[in-house]
Amino acid sequence: MATLTFENKVAVVTGAGNGLGLSHAKLLAARGAKVVVNDLGGSTSGEGSDDTVAEAVAREINDAGGEAVANGDSVTDGEKIIQCALDNFGGVDIVINNAGILRDKSFHKMSDDDWNLVYEVHLKGAFKVSRAAFQHMREKGYGRFVMTTSAAGIYGNFGQANYSACKLALHGLSQTVAVEGRAKGVKSNTIAPIAGSRLMGTVMDEEAMNRLSPAAVSPLAAWLCHEDCDANGELFEVGAGWISRVRWERSQGAYLKPAGFDPEDVAEVWNQVNDFTDATHPVDTGSTMQAIGRNPNLS
Ligand code: NAI
Repeated sequence: MATLTFENKVAVVTGAGNGLGLSHAKLLAARGAKVVVNDLGGSTSGEGSDDTVAEAVAREINDAGGEAVANGDSVTDGEKIIQCALDNFGGVDIVINNAGILRDKSFHKMSDDDWNLVYEVHLKGAFKVSRAAFQHMREKGYGRFVMTTSAAGIYGNFGQANYSACKLALHGLSQTVAVEGRAKGVKSNTIAPIAGSRLMGTVMDEEAMNRLSPAAVSPLAAWLCHEDCDANGELFEVGAGWISRVRWERSQGAYLKPAGFDPEDVAEVWNQVNDFTDATHPVDTGSTMQAIGRNPNLS
């Protein structure tokens, strides 16, 4: 296969000062993309800031013969990050929403601050960056987004109510950007990575950290950003050399009388509701209406 390159493409990678973002930024730059290395430079729990974190990565890319510019804004100021791409490189073709923090607490102990800060960085941050970029991509008729979710978002995880809520919401955002972008040449997909990073140092032991390289996630992120990739609105789990697609599954379900039925009727069809024989894999809201329309009890 021919080498996949990103010549004449401008990529914004948020949270590119460490871990996965750093790895994504270096890979895209090595393959010809002009890269905005965004990173606030704060702690894993979102405190503080340090411009030198993004600057060091941009310098490393430029020293290696690539083209990068550092940006130290928070993703909550997403417009500034996209403006940085426009000012330095004249456009934006690729956005990898990757910046993240953790404020883990069991749900009954979770403070408003723990909730709000995680929401601000993960979900609002991705919204602000993506909306600013989407406007330019629509006009240009080309764009690629990668959102970063987590297994904690897809499946739930103890102590991560704030994080898992925002992480799954990012896939919701991606799916709608995919729908709205389709006619404009803009695609959006979601990855749920697993990698040894400073963020995971809080929940992974050292042995697991060493086994899981961020470099084993970035090739998928890069492929999803490439013009040859047709995926749109999809979700992938990735880590340690494993890549898998995750999708919705719907049982055939049970049909009751739409005019009215009782909880006892629900109990009676419960096994049928939960039976995944001949399950389908819905991909749009229209399929919900179609399933409802097949109710034999509809007059
Ligand atoms: P990391 O802590 O190594 O890197 C995250 C970067 O985001 C840091 O450099 C940090 O300074 C930056 N950042 C934080 N808040 C920011 C803000 N407001 N604006 C700009 N930059 C900000 O973490 P890691 O593991 O590389 O995580 C990257 C993404 O992958 C995160 O969204 C995380 O939730 C997600 N993820 C990571 C997993 C893993 O196994 N490492 C598992 C599932 C998801």
